Amino acid sequence: MNMRKKIVAGNWKMNMNLQEGVALAEELNEALKAKSVKCDVVVGTPFIHLASVADAVDASRIGVAAQNCADKVSGAYTGEVSAAMVASTGAKYVILGHSERRAYYHETPEMLKEKVLLALANGLTPIFCIGEVLDERESGKHFEVVQSQIEASLFGLSADDFGRIVLAYEPVWAIGTGKTASAAQAQEMHAFIRRTLTGKYGAEVADRTSILYGGSCNASNAQELFSNPDVDGGLIGGASLGVDKFMPIIEAF
Ligand code: 13P
Repeated sequence: MNMRKKIVAGNWKMNMNLQEGVALAEELNEALKAKSVKCDVVVGTPFIHLASVADAVDASRIGVAAQNCADKVSGAYTGEVSAAMVASTGAKYVILGHSERRAYYHETPEMLKEKVLLALANGLTPIFCIGEVLDERESGKHFEVVQSQIEASLFGLSADDFGRIVLAYEPVWAIGTGKTASAAQAQEMHAFIRRTLTGKYGAEVADRTSILYGGSCNASNAQELFSNPDVDGGLIGGASLGVDKFMPIIEAF
């Protein structure tokens, strides 16, 4: 059994109004009080929920994550939310590089590099997402795509800073499709990612990096996915929107 941190993180995406979000977080907090769980639990909420959700839960039970932050420190960037603002809400994590942000909001590797640096500078733990689209997998390019996503945005970091990153492998073809990667596909990619990290930062850093799987992960497949040696937890979309669906995933560890 490795000593890496096991993490189950929910990504609420653009769902639930403030009252619904706080109610879900409170319900999850209560459910966790009654159990002793073997992983860290995180909820990734829309920006406007962050402060209220951070207030509503026990920080020892649930970490709060933003789903994005700006690539600038502060200033005239209408509509943006900085890493410092995220940190000031009590959030401890920020999801960065999600495929939806790369695809729909044109986030580039260079922008993500800045976001990672600002997140780290403000004491946030980035949950950095990587993953190939279906065409890339079908043409056998999935390993090189994932490697280049990691290299382009993260390999400028010192080993110390890299040690504060959590990775999430999310094959785009598995997100919201009900078509999860098989346990073997997940393990194969996670092991590849860890070898890539070993090559750059050495075995100690690589062995300590938590690599989560995301993409149609749910109560019925979580245990099989999490039982792989290089799968250290999950980043959960749809199945994080109800305690009845999210709790069994947490308990899969
Ligand atoms: P689903 O679990 O809904 O497939 O979403 C995964 C995801 O994108 C989490 O960030």
